[in-house]
Amino acid sequence: LANGLARTPPMGWNSWNQTRCYDLTGQAVRDAADALVRTGMRDAGYRYVVVDDCWQDRTRGANGELRADPRRFPGGIAALADYVHRRGLLFGIYSVPGSATCAMAGDGYPAHGIGSLGHERQDAETFAAWGVDYLKYDWCNADTNDGLQRQPAFEKMRDELARTNRKIVYSISEYGVSSPWTWAKPVANLWRTTYDLAPDWASISSVIEQQAAVATHSGTPGGWNDPDMLQLGNGALTADEARAHVSLWAMLNAPLFAGTDLGALSTSDIQALTNPEVVALDQDFAGSQGTKVAGTASTDVWRKPLSGGGYAVALLNRGDTETRMPTRTPGQWRVRDLWAHQYVGGAEFAVPPHGVRVLTLRPCQDRP
Ligand code: DGJ
Repeated sequence: LANGLARTPPMGWNSWNQTRCYDLTGQAVRDAADALVRTGMRDAGYRYVVVDDCWQDRTRGANGELRADPRRFPGGIAALADYVHRRGLLFGIYSVPGSATCAMAGDGYPAHGIGSLGHERQDAETFAAWGVDYLKYDWCNADTNDGLQRQPAFEKMRDELARTNRKIVYSISEYGVSSPWTWAKPVANLWRTTYDLAPDWASISSVIEQQAAVATHSGTPGGWNDPDMLQLGNGALTADEARAHVSLWAMLNAPLFAGTDLGALSTSDIQALTNPEVVALDQDFAGSQGTKVAGTASTDVWRKPLSGGGYAVALLNRGDTETRMPTRTPGQWRVRDLWAHQYVGGAEFAVPPHGVRVLTLRPCQDRP
């Protein structure tokens, strides 16, 4: 979307993978903002603090306005956005095009009437007035409940956001049922390409495989494929799995949203999320995201061109035992290992199980 925003893949924290519906509170959001600063994640690029589903009260106010759940957000949303902004961060929120959000039954949800259907302009103006910088616009049964079609429904909120006086990144989230990568470039800054990612290797590995088919659709700066948010800190991912997860998201120019209790992250996970060389790879877009160029039943080779010449290569071992993987380095290349933080030689690399080696290959004349 040519709204001047998300010129590189957006990064931050989103509540969903941590709190789901029931544990979402204003305190959890403030804690996340504080932890982004304390861990160095903000300074590594994680700038957006996004409140996902279940922040809303179950009804609208007398004038049709959205309101925050008063128990979970006693201070309201504008004050929360202010808290986030005062820490040098940006604030995001969540809605849907239909009548009800995606929240599963329980605690008064799903609540019909708190989706933005019929209130698109009012909600966009409310969000702008609250200081919102990012909107995640999800999709749940709006076709069956409300007879909506996806593309026009998402376009409607794009247009309303554009009318406001704020710059609001527009993230659409509908699992990929309508293949948004085929139509969303002029509609949104990012669009989902998968179902929800689970915090385990099977899910991460299968989502990576699915991305090979959509790689060519990612975007002009301002429009990114979104293979869902990061699961570091959740489940029982090993350090190698966590690195592989972040690395492949970086190869894909994917948005990087942590979704865990950042205050409880291990040092190893913080280092995986903030590895400056891998974050730089994620933010580097030289005309196309990474594509899968070779593979076996349990290994993948992904390649992405780099601005400034050369390319990045990810050697991914999806299997359960260590393997050695060759990388062809025709001509004279200077090869750097982005996790070892050093230049390396050789044409074959050991890759741990459920792990990755990420290399950049630069023409030798670029040698520093
Ligand atoms: C489905 C989305 O894919 C999730 O990321 C999350 O936003 C939930 N809906 C919220 O209900």
